Amino acid sequence: MRILLTGASGWIGSASATELIAAGHEVAGLVRSDAGAAKVAALGAEVVRGTLEDLDGLRAAARGVDGVVHLGYVHDFSRMDDAARIDRAAIETFADALAGRGGPLLIASGTLGLARGRVGLERDQADPAVHPRVANGLYTLGLAQRGVRSIVVRFAPTVHGAGDHGFVAMLARIARERSVSAYLGDGANRWPAVHRLDAAALVRRAIDSAAPGTVLHAVAEEGIATRDIATALGTALGLPTAAVAPERAAEHFGWLGAFFGADVPASSAATRAAMDWAPRQPTLCDDIAAGHYPGD
Ligand SMILES: NC(=O)c1ccc[n+]([C@@H]2O[C@H](COP(=O)([O-])OP(=O)(O)OC[C@H]3O[C@@H](n4cnc5c(N)ncnc54)[C@H](OP(=O)(O)O)[C@@H]3O)[C@@H](O)[C@H]2O)c1
Repeated sequence: MRILLTGASGWIGSASATELIAAGHEVAGLVRSDAGAAKVAALGAEVVRGTLEDLDGLRAAARGVDGVVHLGYVHDFSRMDDAARIDRAAIETFADALAGRGGPLLIASGTLGLARGRVGLERDQADPAVHPRVANGLYTLGLAQRGVRSIVVRFAPTVHGAGDHGFVAMLARIARERSVSAYLGDGANRWPAVHRLDAAALVRRAIDSAAPGTVLHAVAEEGIATRDIATALGTALGLPTAAVAPERAAEHFGWLGAFFGADVPASSAATRAAMDWAPRQPTLCDDIAAGHYPGD
């Protein structure tokens, strides 16, 4: 298949480009800078210049492909509603271009917000009030009625590996700044994770065979106790590990405290069965021990 890939220069998108190309697909990667273009060309993908806001460009690009993998996102916490609106307009544009053709439209989402204090499942649906982006996933799933092979992949909140700049990299930075690797309370609350390459392998499998209207969980580890994550970071950074009282979460971790203190495990049992997907890469704590989170 010929696939338009947004976010092709990004963390998951670049790995997905490599996976899709290795499986024999042609990838046209959307980029908005010279640096992005160089990166995407080096992966062996065709470069398509454009932005998520340029709907005419997205429409033209989507008309020339068999399917779309939409992993680009405006990650700006100061304008979350705006970012979700840009995302929605892009998805609607892809849907119009793909309608009635049966090709795949895969979009990214997250497992955070599905359930608290119990394991989130593929069949769970987050409350659209939790995040402005949730409605975009629901809209996408409904596109199955319009002849689009719609797929929502919910990624674990930590997609790890060498070069990760996400939540765990921020935890490592905070640990260095405060000279202690901390967890909240008893640290028994759970945090799911997936290696970037396992996530990309799932994207490729989904493009090859997911049914219309499918929700998948890119989750390799259902729930790692945050105490274990903090201990692994402490060991890797040569720092002590200690508990911090939950009421001091914001003081110690800033805005990240609300996330790191949450119990948000998520299952991928249905995904593994449906996609014949088995994560093979190192665990999050293996990657921390390997020195991929230097905290600088
Ligand atoms: N990584 C995680 O832990 C995680 C967890 C849950 C869900 N997700 C979701 O999975 C998807 C991929 O995440 P990621 O970690 O790969 O993100 P990322 O590394 O931040 O990459 C974002 C991509 O979007 C592109 N982009 C941003 N704004 C754009 C715009 N206005 N026009 C065109 N392209 C634009 C970026 O291009 P530039 O290179 O030019 O900046 C980059 O290629 C996102 O939807 C994300 O929210 C990720």
